[in-house]
Amino acid sequence: MCGIVGYVGPKATVDVLIGGLRRLEYRGYDSAGIAVISAGHLEMRKKSGKLVNLEAEIAAHPLPESHIGIGHTRWATHGAPTDGNAHPHLGGPAHKLALIHNGIIENFAELKAELLAEGTRFASETDTEVAAHLIAREYEQTHDLFAAFSSVMNRLHGAFTILVVHQDQPDVVLAARRNAPLVIGLGTGENFLGSDVAAFVEHTKRAVSVGQDEIVVLRADSVELFGFDGTPVAYTEFEVDWDASAASKGGWPSFMAKEIADQPQAIADTLMGRVRPDGHVVLDDIKQISTQQINDIERIIIVACGTASYAGDVAKYAIEKWARIPVQVELSHEFRYRSPIVTPNTLVIAISQSGETMDTLMAVRYAQELGAKVFAICNTQGATLARESDAVIYTHAGPEVAVASTKALTAQITAGYMLALVLAEARGALDEAHLTALGQELLHLPKKVSEVLENISQASDLGTAHANAKSVLFLGRNVGFPVAMEGALKLKEIAYIHAEGFAAGELKHGPIALIEEGQPVIVMVPSPDDVDSLHPKVISNIQEIRARGAKVIAIAEEGDGTVGNYAEAVIYVPKTDAIMAAVLCVIPLQAFALALSTAKGLDVDQPRNLAKSVTVE
Ligand code: M6R
Repeated sequence: MCGIVGYVGPKATVDVLIGGLRRLEYRGYDSAGIAVISAGHLEMRKKSGKLVNLEAEIAAHPLPESHIGIGHTRWATHGAPTDGNAHPHLGGPAHKLALIHNGIIENFAELKAELLAEGTRFASETDTEVAAHLIAREYEQTHDLFAAFSSVMNRLHGAFTILVVHQDQPDVVLAARRNAPLVIGLGTGENFLGSDVAAFVEHTKRAVSVGQDEIVVLRADSVELFGFDGTPVAYTEFEVDWDASAASKGGWPSFMAKEIADQPQAIADTLMGRVRPDGHVVLDDIKQISTQQINDIERIIIVACGTASYAGDVAKYAIEKWARIPVQVELSHEFRYRSPIVTPNTLVIAISQSGETMDTLMAVRYAQELGAKVFAICNTQGATLARESDAVIYTHAGPEVAVASTKALTAQITAGYMLALVLAEARGALDEAHLTALGQELLHLPKKVSEVLENISQASDLGTAHANAKSVLFLGRNVGFPVAMEGALKLKEIAYIHAEGFAAGELKHGPIALIEEGQPVIVMVPSPDDVDSLHPKVISNIQEIRARGAKVIAIAEEGDGTVGNYAEAVIYVPKTDAIMAAVLCVIPLQAFALALSTAKGLDVDQPRNLAKSVTVE
C-alpha cells in the first residue's frame, strides 16, 4: 500500500525521492507526489496514475534544487485516485506545511468537523488532509513544530505513518508511526525515511526500525526518536542484508519471472546454516525456547493471509505428521475477530513475507493479549511482525517485488518444514533415522527446484495456450490441497479469471457440478509410492471429472507410469518426500499463471486493485 520516502542531505532531493518511490512501486499505488523546500519555500508536485505521470509533471514544471523533501505513492482508501487526493497535502491557509500519510485516520470525520466549523477549506476528500491542517494550525499558535506535530499525533486514531515538512523549519523532517511501517536509513551527512528499506537501500544499508507510537526528528546530521509523550527513545541499528540489485529485474521481463527463477537460491539461503549435513535441523532463531516449553505446547495456531496462509496449511501437514502437535490454520482477520481459545500452552505462528500485514499484526497482538507465545516466519528484517514476536525465523528469499508472492511462499514452506523437524526432535516424535532422512531431503530441495525450473517451459506453454480460458479449477489432496488453492489465487490475482482450488475428495460434495465440456482442471497427483494410498484416489477423481468433459493437466512425480493415461498433459516434478512435494508442485502453477497473464497482455507485477503489502485492516 502507500509508499513513503523522506530525505535530508546534500544530494539532489527530487532524484532521491523519485528513486525511492520507484523502489516502493511494488507496494501498489494509484497516484504519486513529492514536496521539497527550497530557499524557504515549499513546492509540491503530484499526479494521479503511475510515477511516469509525476515525472512528466516535474519535467513540465521543474522543481528547484533542494536538500529536504518527502515523497509518496498513494493506494486510495478515502477519496478516488485523483490529482487532488494524491499526497502530499498542504496545511494551513498559507500552505507552508506538506504532509504524507500511509494508513487510515479513523476519527478524521470528527476532526474535519472541528476544522470546518473554524472555516478551514479542504482541497481533497481524504482523511489525511485533516492532519495537515491541524498541525499547521497548532504551529501558527506556538511556532514549535515538534510540539504541534506530537500534539496532533496524540489526537489521531487508527493507523498512520505520517511525514511532515514545514517551510519555516527547512532543515527537519518529522515523522510518526502507529500501526504502519516506517524505517530510518542512516547515512553520512544525510538521512532517509522509508516505508521499507527498499526506499533507500541504494544509498545506505544502515537502518533503524521505528517502534510503535514513536516520533522521528530527522536532520542531515542527526536522528532523534521520541515517544508520543515526548520522552526520548533509544534506538539500535541493523544492517540491511540485501543490496539494491536484488530488487531489480536483472534482465527478466518481470519481477515475477525473476522471483520464480530465484527460488532455488531463496530456499538454499533459507536453509543455510540451519540444517547440518547429518540432517539435524538447528534453529538458533528459537533457541530461547526450551525443550520443556516445546514439550508443553498443546496446540499450534498459524495465522496468516493469502499466499502466506497456504504456506501455513502446508506447515500444518508437516507439523502434525512429524511432530504430532495439533495445528489449526486461521486467516488472521478471522482469528482476530472471533473468540479463539488460546491458552498459555498455545503456540501462535504468524507467517508474513512483509511482516507489515495489518491483519496479521492485529492477530498477533490479540494472541499475545491472550497469553500466547508468538513465533514469526518473516522475510523482512526490522519489520513490525519481527519486532513484536517472541522469536523470528527469517526466510532469506531476498526482496520480493512482484505483488504475486512466489519465492516468499516456497521459502515460508521451507521454514515451516524446518520448524516441524525441530519440534519433532524436541518431542521425540520421530525416530532418529526418519528425522535425519527428512532433514537431508530438505537439503536436496534447492536442486530439485532447479530441475523443475529447467523444464518450466511446458507449464508456461500451457499457460499461454489457456489465455482465453474463462475459468480454471485446481484439485489436490493432502498438501496438494493448499497448493491447488495457491494455484487458483495466482490466476485470480494476475490473470483476472475465475479460478478455484478444491480438496479433490470434496468434489462429489458439490464442486463437480462446475465441470462441463472443456473445463480446464489442474490436478496435483501424489506419488504412486504414497503410503496413504492417495494416488489411486486422485486418479479416480481425475476419471470422474474427465467423464464429465474436463481437460486435465496433471502435476505428477517423475516415474509415475499411470497418470499419463488419464490426463491431456502431465508436468513431471522430481521425487521427494510426500509433504515436501508441495514446494515442487507449486512452481509450475506459478509459471502457468505468469504465462497466461502475459498472454493476456496484463501487468503481471502490479495487478489491478492490489497492493503488495496490505497495511490497513
Ligand atoms: O506480506 P504477507 O505475506 O503478510 O502478505 C500476505 C498476503 O497479502 C499475500 O500473500 C498475498 O496473498 C499475495 N499477493 C499473494 O500472491
